[in-house]
Amino acid sequence: MEITVTVNGRAYTRDIEPRLLLVHFLRDELGMTGTHWGCDTSNCGACVVWLDETPVKSCTVLAVMADGHRVRTVEGLAGADGLDPVQQGFTECHGLQCGFWTPGMMLTARWLIDKNPDPSEADIREAISGQLCRCTGYDNIVKSIRWAAEHDTAHEAAPAGTTVDSKEVSA
Ligand code: FES
Repeated sequence: MEITVTVNGRAYTRDIEPRLLLVHFLRDELGMTGTHWGCDTSNCGACVVWLDETPVKSCTVLAVMADGHRVRTVEGLAGADGLDPVQQGFTECHGLQCGFWTPGMMLTARWLIDKNPDPSEADIREAISGQLCRCTGYDNIVKSIRWAAEHDTAHEAAPAGTTVDSKEVSA
C-alpha cells in the first residue's frame, strides 16, 4: 500500500508491504541508517525515533501507522546553525562510546530537554530507562544530557519547513 511519511521535514511516498516495520522503512526504503536495529523485540531502544512529538521504538511500529505523520530521526537533529546541543553534549562528555545506541539516546534526550529544560540526574535516568547501552557506561550519557540541557538555546523542536521528495511522490 502507498504511504506518505514526513521524515525530518521532507515528505516521502512509498509503496510498501503492510507488514513493514518503521525501522526498516527508514533504513531500507529511505536509506536513513542512523536509526539502528538492535533486538527487534522492543527491549534495547536502538531504534528510537520521534513519531510526531513522541519517542517510539520503531521496531514496534508498522510503517503504515506513520502514514500521514511526522517522523524525526537522528539525521534531523542538527539544524542550519550546526549540531544540536544534545549532539554537542555527547561529544563534549564522551557519551558516544560504541555509538550503536547513541541515535536513540540523543532523540530521547532532545525530547526530555524540550519537555524539561532542567532535568535532574534522576529525570535523565528515567527518560533513558527503556534504552540499553551495550557498553554499560551510563554515567557519561547522563553527563552528556546534562551538558546539553545547560547549553540549550531555544532550539526548534521540529525541523523547519516541509519539502517534498518530488521524484518519488506520485501525482
Ligand atoms: Fe527496537 Fe531493540 S531494535 S527496541
